[in-house]
Amino acid sequence: MTPYFRVGVINAQGDRPRSTHPPPLSSPNMSTQKALAILEKNGPWGLINVHVDKPGPGEVLIRAEATALNPVDWKVQASGAPFVTDYPAIMGTDSAGTVVEIGEGVTRLRVGDRVFHQGWFTNRLATFKQFTISPADIVGKIPDNITFDQAASIPVGLGAAFVGLYGQPIERGGAGLVAPWQNGGLGKYAGQPIVVFGGSTSVGQYVIQLAKLSGFSPIITTSSPHNAPLVTSLGATHFISRTTPPSDVLSKVTNITSGGPSVKLVFDAISEETTQGVAYDVLAPGGTLVLVWPLKNQIDLRKRPESTLKTVVNTFGTVHHDVETIRDLGVQLYSKVEAYLASGDLKPNRTEILQGGLAGIPDGLERLRSNQVSGVKLVVRPHETGE
Ligand SMILES: NC(=O)c1ccc[n+]([C@@H]2O[C@H](COP(=O)([O-])OP(=O)(O)OC[C@H]3O[C@@H](n4cnc5c(N)ncnc54)[C@H](OP(=O)(O)O)[C@@H]3O)[C@@H](O)[C@H]2O)c1
Repeated sequence: MTPYFRVGVINAQGDRPRSTHPPPLSSPNMSTQKALAILEKNGPWGLINVHVDKPGPGEVLIRAEATALNPVDWKVQASGAPFVTDYPAIMGTDSAGTVVEIGEGVTRLRVGDRVFHQGWFTNRLATFKQFTISPADIVGKIPDNITFDQAASIPVGLGAAFVGLYGQPIERGGAGLVAPWQNGGLGKYAGQPIVVFGGSTSVGQYVIQLAKLSGFSPIITTSSPHNAPLVTSLGATHFISRTTPPSDVLSKVTNITSGGPSVKLVFDAISEETTQGVAYDVLAPGGTLVLVWPLKNQIDLRKRPESTLKTVVNTFGTVHHDVETIRDLGVQLYSKVEAYLASGDLKPNRTEILQGGLAGIPDGLERLRSNQVSGVKLVVRPHETGE
């Protein structure tokens, strides 16, 4: 078992002054909560007690019913990521729950709404907690056909997929496509092929579904053979085993697309040494390769004569983006996503519920780190955390 435990109290109020007015009747009527944090830079995970934040203007307070695990959580712990500066550092960026308090000026949400949202790497906005805070304009409503556990699987994976596809072609942006809900966007790319490396990842599953809404065809993807039914159920038209040698991947893609347009869009939802090179080679000149993790040495653009004709984008899939165009896109997404989920055009990831509430997260992250998770999102229920 991953070592953790230290229980203490830190003030996670962030930089906002605590409101002095009495809490509304719908308030959770509690002042502290449990949270899971990296206790010190590169240090162990620990359960800590922190204050429940008050929602500021434009924000909501949510009782978290489910939070999902992401590779970035263990990567921050292992790397001591420079963008995390305050320790203990609460992690977690996927959450679903019920709105329990509304900040000043919020009109699109009400107390009692079932919602989901993406967190951020500050103690105030992180989601490995029992109560979470979010700007209200990037909170999605959960339709009746989706559970809290399923909804918690959506924000980060969908965020990376949609920023990668529809974000502007700028640093940390995307391929600059027109989103399905924008004018003329639905089915706009009909007849154009896309290749998705890692179709069974959380991100890849959302890329496939968005690519289908955008009209791409064929949708070619890689995964383990046992996940072929999953990726095809989401909209992939062709499946290639992830263990296929790169030269064979190239010839398979060529065979599938022969007679049609060349591949102008490749989404590498793995972005490891084994995939980036072949992802780049599959791409036709003039096309765009979207990466979810920065460029590695094996795509040495200087050694590739056609490199000036291929665009490589390192996407940064968050709606807490400091780039105005991406933030605006995120606001649009969270106003539209309920309808796509209700209609089944967007399906959440399959989920596996871990026991122990927040205390179950470190072992789950170890499974993610050692590639022991296949085609599911690991989810915990924060209020199942023991004393
Ligand atoms: N840039 C961003 O904003 C952003 C956002 C989210 C995630 N990410 C990154 O995106 C990556 C994926 O994250 P995730 O949460 O979607 O992962 P995940 O769901 O935890 O990934 C697990 C899946 O990876 C697949 N996989 C592993 N190696 C593969 C390979 N060589 N080829 C094909 N499939 C492979 C496995 O497929 P099979 O079981 O079918 O073999 C498994 O289903 C991570 O590196 C993560 O850090 C980046």
